[in-house]
Amino acid sequence: MNAVITGSNRGIGNAIMHTFAHNKYNIWACARTPSESFESEINQLSKSCGVSIEPVYFDLADENAVKAGVKQIFSYKKSVDVLVNNAGMGHGGTLMMTPVSKLREVYEINVFAQIHMMQLISRAMTRQQSGSIINICSVGGMEVGKGYIAYGSSKAAMIWLTKAAAKELGEFGIRVNGIAPGLTDTEMGHYKSDEEIQKVFDRTVIKRFGKPEEIAQGALYLASDAAAFITGQILVIDGGRVI
Ligand SMILES: NC(=O)c1ccc[n+]([C@@H]2O[C@H](COP(=O)([O-])OP(=O)(O)OC[C@H]3O[C@@H](n4cnc5c(N)ncnc54)[C@H](OP(=O)(O)O)[C@@H]3O)[C@@H](O)[C@H]2O)c1
Repeated sequence: MNAVITGSNRGIGNAIMHTFAHNKYNIWACARTPSESFESEINQLSKSCGVSIEPVYFDLADENAVKAGVKQIFSYKKSVDVLVNNAGMGHGGTLMMTPVSKLREVYEINVFAQIHMMQLISRAMTRQQSGSIINICSVGGMEVGKGYIAYGSSKAAMIWLTKAAAKELGEFGIRVNGIAPGLTDTEMGHYKSDEEIQKVFDRTVIKRFGKPEEIAQGALYLASDAAAFITGQILVIDGGRVI
């Protein structure tokens, strides 16, 4: 099986890349910026797991670069079985303190680029009549809180889009699901202040950060045939946050 994973250089995407490689997926490891350390990491991982991992570099903010990245993926003439739309950006700001320019920037990455990736990759999946798309959403898109106007609404949009795409692409054998992580131990997860983090823990049954590997296990399950009867769903992996 062959998977495209965006944001695979760090955080949750990096854990998804490692988990998929250990489960025998060949991977197109998408990242924004070429780096020697990333290339040496994927070379080691591909050798130790006996799978192929090809780096594909593009900035999700650049529509033409996204197209070129997907063209590169298609040039391998392999099936594209899984797309994990993981890369995203955080942003904190209230209604009155979020300039429209910032909303556009967040939506460009967290919504428009995700739609574009689904459109491009689902063309190949439609020809194959099979595929699994997994959008990394957020509990921030389900729970309405103060101070996350751009991020929260962008993730809410992705939840809706995941369900709509599942309805539209189902007839082509493509499943589309989302994962809504709670606070996860990555750079983005530490964006909140200690006080805000404690407030989240106070409302959660398992009072700790999620591990990126725990989110990756959800993606592995949704990608697999074990989830063949699951589409249009959002898997919440958040330690039991009581919303
Ligand atoms: N951590 C949490 O608590 C949490 C909770 C709920 C949902 N999520 C979601 O989980 C996903 C992964 O988050 P994370 O925690 O792993 O965040 P992270 O550690 O900040 O990593 C973000 C990843 O997205 C990539 N990225 C951002 N903007 C990009 C762009 N314009 N073009 C290409 N790549 C870009 C980053 O690449 P660079 O290294 O080049 O910046 C990086 O690989 C996101 O969609 C996030 O919204 C996270």
